[in-house]
Amino acid sequence: MTWLITGGAGYIGAHVARAMTEAGERVLALDDLSAGVPARLPEGIPLVQGSSLDGELLKRVLAEHAVTGVVHLAARKQVGESVAQPTRYYQENLGGLATLLDAVAGAGVRRFVFSSSAAVYGNPDVDLITEDTPCAPMSPYGETKLAGEWLVRAAGRAHGIDTVCLRYFNVAGAAAPELADTGVFNVVPMVFDRLTRDEAPRIFGDDYPTPDGTCVRDYIHVADLAEAHLAAARRLASSETPGSAGDLTVNIGRGEGVSVRELLTLIGEVTGDGRPVLVEPRRPGDAPRAVASAALAATELGWTARRGVREMVESAWQGWQLHHA
Ligand SMILES: NC(=O)c1ccc[n+]([C@@H]2O[C@H](COP(=O)([O-])OP(=O)(O)OC[C@H]3O[C@@H](n4cnc5c(N)ncnc54)[C@H](O)[C@@H]3O)[C@@H](O)[C@H]2O)c1
Repeated sequence: MTWLITGGAGYIGAHVARAMTEAGERVLALDDLSAGVPARLPEGIPLVQGSSLDGELLKRVLAEHAVTGVVHLAARKQVGESVAQPTRYYQENLGGLATLLDAVAGAGVRRFVFSSSAAVYGNPDVDLITEDTPCAPMSPYGETKLAGEWLVRAAGRAHGIDTVCLRYFNVAGAAAPELADTGVFNVVPMVFDRLTRDEAPRIFGDDYPTPDGTCVRDYIHVADLAEAHLAAARRLASSETPGSAGDLTVNIGRGEGVSVRELLTLIGEVTGDGRPVLVEPRRPGDAPRAVASAALAATELGWTARRGVREMVESAWQGWQLHHA
């Protein structure tokens, strides 16, 4: 098998490339480098610089490298930006996916893994979110992920492609400092950013119906997430008749909730900067609780997260210090 990893120079893509390579898979990466960093990729992995919107390039890459499976991570991922620029998000995330699926079908590739997100669920009022929980995304970004899943399944049925959609929960941490997320879009880097600026970390709302009043989330270590991709790729590769395994959509989380206050306490311990936090009003659209049921991933992929939240914060802090020293 040869796997093409789109978005392979990104934060998660580089972890996937590394985990799959270490497990003995042959991989190559495609990335337009709009947010990617080539140095993140392990040595020896070919990197094609180009876009998932470039159908001719995709056809050439799939043929030249005799690609037999695709892991598609390339996408824009900022919720706020997607609210301001919805057409761009639909064009790039969904247009890029449609172009890629056409190339995949044309090249006879029969295995496809898609990066989806817990953003597809929106704000459900349940203790544990299962894959059957109704989807109601609250941003154009989340919509592109949900519509992306529909497109992946439809193309899979039409062209005999086996597919897995992975709905990631809150990704954090790094397998090595140089692989860390350099963006400041998720809560852990946002808190590091505040501390580095000598500002108090903020909590948006402490009057939610949760044990300590702050929002509860399910954090997943990016190295565990990368292993989930490997498990998905292996599941697809193990199908004796490609195109007969159908589709699987699965949550990737730990199944354990951590409150924002608990996370900030942990960050204070790890960074040695336990200054008091600022409590600000709730932000519109924040769900009180979003925690995955991780049961289906265990049964269908044989995958369970192994790393805890402290390991996520410690590894993310090492990465932050490397990039922001
Ligand atoms: N980070 C998270 O918390 C999170 C959570 C849920 C889902 N996801 C999804 O995981 C995927 C990877 O996210 P990430 O955090 O690694 O983001 P990232 O921005 O670090 O990685 C995305 C990579 O894709 C590349 N890219 C973007 N558009 C492209 C295009 N049209 N053609 C080729 N390359 C393109 C970028 O240069 C970048 O290297 C995305 O699909 C994202 O929506 C991320």
